[in-house]
Amino acid sequence: MVSAFPLVRTASPLPADQRAAILDAPGFGLHFTDHMAFASWTPEAGWHDRRIQALQPFSLHPSAAVLHYAQEIFEGLKAYRHADGSVWLFRPESNARRFRRSAERMRLPQLPEQDFFASIEALIRADEPWVPAGTGTVSLYLRPFMFAAEAFLGVRPSRRVVYSVIACPAQPYFNPGGVTLWVSTTYTRAAVGGTGAAKCGGNYGASLAAQTEAERHGCDQVLYVDGADEEACIEESGAMNLFFVTTRGELVTPALGTILEGITRDTVLMLASEFGLTPVERAVPLAELRAGLADGTVTEVFAAGTAAVITPVTGIKGDGYAFMIGGGKPGELSLALRERILDIQYGRVADTHGWLRSVV
Ligand code: PLP
Ligand code: COI
Repeated sequence: MVSAFPLVRTASPLPADQRAAILDAPGFGLHFTDHMAFASWTPEAGWHDRRIQALQPFSLHPSAAVLHYAQEIFEGLKAYRHADGSVWLFRPESNARRFRRSAERMRLPQLPEQDFFASIEALIRADEPWVPAGTGTVSLYLRPFMFAAEAFLGVRPSRRVVYSVIACPAQPYFNPGGVTLWVSTTYTRAAVGGTGAAKCGGNYGASLAAQTEAERHGCDQVLYVDGADEEACIEESGAMNLFFVTTRGELVTPALGTILEGITRDTVLMLASEFGLTPVERAVPLAELRAGLADGTVTEVFAAGTAAVITPVTGIKGDGYAFMIGGGKPGELSLALRERILDIQYGRVADTHGWLRSVV
């Protein structure tokens, strides 16, 4: 079949020895593959000009709407190489659907799911040598995104939009040994009716002040709550959803609404019963979490996300209180869930849920 994203191969790929050096220790979001996916949209022509081309800068007019009003969305997913050399995506249909929901919220055009898959798969095939081997935790992180490219200084939906996908070999984004969280009562991430459930760039730009506050208090990341009053409920962390294990055998996570509907979150909820845990989605008051950490009825806390996989939370601090969790060590169930998810993603156990999609 002819790809809907035909490949115009780069004339100057990175030499193999330099690529190998990067793949040895890629970090996260530092080194990009040789190609990118590109497509353009206008109301008249719809989606057109689809291609895989050499990785290159965009040419944007200084008045391009994205630079002023942040009409932009993105996704994050990974390609995993299995021991037999094959390459797989994990639940990409969920990313495609979330991308469509984010587009709707930000008044960007809908990208057909087949274009989402075709662009990602054509890019992976073009840059296949960049998918790390070794079935530990390294993968190829894919970043589909869409932005308002029209040159116009008015606040209305852009009439020229660019869709693109870039890729970078990646190690886990957070310390797998655990992170500490700062409960911010200065900053919220989202409000009812806001953009919290959309994966739009503005949410992350607005998070930087809270992140700085967390670091000033000696913490790695922010734990967002939905207000500063006594009834405030837990939301999520800056790039991860949160889970609490209780002595009652429950795996509790904040209900959807103003948080990002994480695909790892959903995966964890679906796997919970295999670990003897009852998944519970509900509002979680901060006061309840603090009481549970104080009296030991909350035994483990962890965060979940594509970049984070499962990252144990080993400490939570806020204004006037601090809890060390599990003696500062990752919890057993957190680690077991992390292993199970990685086992599925890297093809080390059977994919009984039908979550993997073959690419190469
Ligand atoms: N919450 C936020 C704010 C995020 O940025 C992410 C990362 O994508 C997540 C949660 C986790 O979502 P997912 O598991 O789909 O990566
Ligand atoms: C992801 O998990 O894909 C994310 O979006 C995290 C990113 C903000 C680093």
